[in-house]
Amino acid sequence: MKQFTVTNLTEDLAAQCAALELLAFPHADPADLLDEEDIRVYAQTFPEGFFVVMDGDRVVGQGAGIFLDFDFDHPQHTIAEITGPHQCGNHDPDGEWYYGTDMVVHPDYRRQGIGGRLYGVRKDLVVRHNKAGIIAGGHIPGFAKHRTEMSAPEYIDRVATGELYDPTLSFQIENGFRVAGALENYLHDDATDSYSALIVWDNPEYNKSKAAR
Ligand SMILES: CC(C)(COP(=O)(O)OP(=O)(O)OC[C@H]1O[C@@H](n2cnc3c(N)ncnc32)[C@H](O)[C@@H]1OP(=O)(O)O)[C@@H](O)C(=O)NCCC(=O)NCCS
Repeated sequence: MKQFTVTNLTEDLAAQCAALELLAFPHADPADLLDEEDIRVYAQTFPEGFFVVMDGDRVVGQGAGIFLDFDFDHPQHTIAEITGPHQCGNHDPDGEWYYGTDMVVHPDYRRQGIGGRLYGVRKDLVVRHNKAGIIAGGHIPGFAKHRTEMSAPEYIDRVATGELYDPTLSFQIENGFRVAGALENYLHDDATDSYSALIVWDNPEYNKSKAAR
């Protein structure tokens, strides 16, 4: 991991970050993905929440998120609804949670620990700001192989219990996340029947009495 550096988003990286996004979600509707303009707006809105991994001048990974409040009594949401304009418009500095809007590692750079490192810097941010934890809609790329045998919610349950392996969701569980349900119509993607898993990492150092509200 020595050759990689982690930095916060700047506008000059937007074109590379947008290209990486398209590469990582080949079956998703591009309208649901971050484009170059979205990323430029992100850089002006909350660059501290958007981490970029560089191999020299090349962007090889990114993990982004915003602060917001979350209602666990009404957990269903789409990526567009929860994040707002440019997938960062709903950023609220006083929000209780860090909501992960994006997590991608270049296919040629996977399984070398970059994703784990991105979770590490996100968790540090959450601890530093005394937030309750991280919430995200976890992608389930491995579901495509099981689509004829079971529904997406059943697949998510079986990955959560460890019975099935998913290249993304299992990695997230390995990184300390718990599965809190299935999100319908989260992001339009034929390979996942548009489902994602609702995943949560609880900050063990969170002090609610000292939180912004
Ligand atoms: C999910 C994703 C971000 C993971 O990135 P990554 O850099 O490969 O993550 P890591 O290398 O830290 O970990 C991935 C796996 O490689 C293993 N690994 C890490 N370093 C390794 C090494 N040096 N040698 C062998 N295996 C290694 C990890 O243990 C982990 O295994 P697991 O799946 O059994 O938990 C990446 O696969 C990706 O971009 N997927 C497509 C987009 C996506 O689904 N994003 C998530 C949206 S919610």
